[in-house]
Amino acid sequence: MLARSFTIKNNKMIVANSVNNALQADPTLAAGLIRMLFHDCFIEGCDASILLDSTKDNTAEKDSPANLSLRGYEIIDDAKEKIENRCPGVVSCADIIAMAARDAVVWAGGPYYNIPKGRFDGKRSKIEDTRNLPSPFLNASQLIQTFGQRGFTPQDVVALSGAHTLGVAQCSSFKARLTTPDSSLDSTFANTLSKTCSAGDNAEQPFDATRNIFDNAYFNALQMKSGVLFSDQTLFNTPRTRNLVNGYAFNQAKFFFDFQQAMRKMSNLDVKLGTQGEVRQNCRVIN
Ligand code: HEM
Repeated sequence: MLARSFTIKNNKMIVANSVNNALQADPTLAAGLIRMLFHDCFIEGCDASILLDSTKDNTAEKDSPANLSLRGYEIIDDAKEKIENRCPGVVSCADIIAMAARDAVVWAGGPYYNIPKGRFDGKRSKIEDTRNLPSPFLNASQLIQTFGQRGFTPQDVVALSGAHTLGVAQCSSFKARLTTPDSSLDSTFANTLSKTCSAGDNAEQPFDATRNIFDNAYFNALQMKSGVLFSDQTLFNTPRTRNLVNGYAFNQAKFFFDFQQAMRKMSNLDVKLGTQGEVRQNCRVIN
């Protein structure tokens, strides 16, 4: 028992080191790791299906348009390689994603949360499954419905959207907002978005003023009608979710608490049992 808990602790440290080293070199990757967890768990459960490379017979999730801007794969590879060298065949890639996302939240200044380990890696990764990822054009009731089908409450939806306190969106994810009249979009901020888009579809717009700091500035931005995505701003426009946005904008500790709970739920979504999965040797290919 002692030996096993020592091993678990060591593996946890290896992941933390890989994450810390990578984020020291490039702090923007914290956002990538947190989004990776969401895109992994929401499709086929937390089973590292997002990490599998396409083969000649199969186009994998990671090659879907919804995943092309995902970042941080090398961090998972680095941790996996170091763990396999010390203790082969024990720690799944799905566990590494979950730990790395958790460590990225802490690294950026957000709350720590405990997650159980023991996820198994899946063997299916199909581009068509990614149609179940939420589009940035959904309104609040559609978001509540989409997440509700996976067991999340409206409060979880707003707290999880707070992950957009980190990172950026590309112009292609929000440019449609700029061509339709939208009274929920601040006119000065609309000019900022247009200016970003003048550099092309891939040009990046930070979600809030502190893109590498995990704080509640995202919710303040929504109050100022300066949400980047339609799906962000809708949370403030809709009476059902507005109180939650206002609560998190007013009280960062409340946001952190609810985010912890929701991320624990996300990290355990449809986890596979041993018979349904494996512990991959290389996160990019099935054994
Ligand atoms: C509520 C539904 C959600 C929608 C519609 C949505 C949509 C998006 C879109 C369109 C982008 C920008 C992609 C691009 O233009 O390259 C993005 C970025 C991001 N999303 Fe979400 N998202 C949602 C929920 C979440 C959740 C639950 C998390 C994590 C818990 C998350 C974490 C992130 C992060 C951290 C980024 C920035 C990534 C980076 O800078 O590399 N999102 N999201």
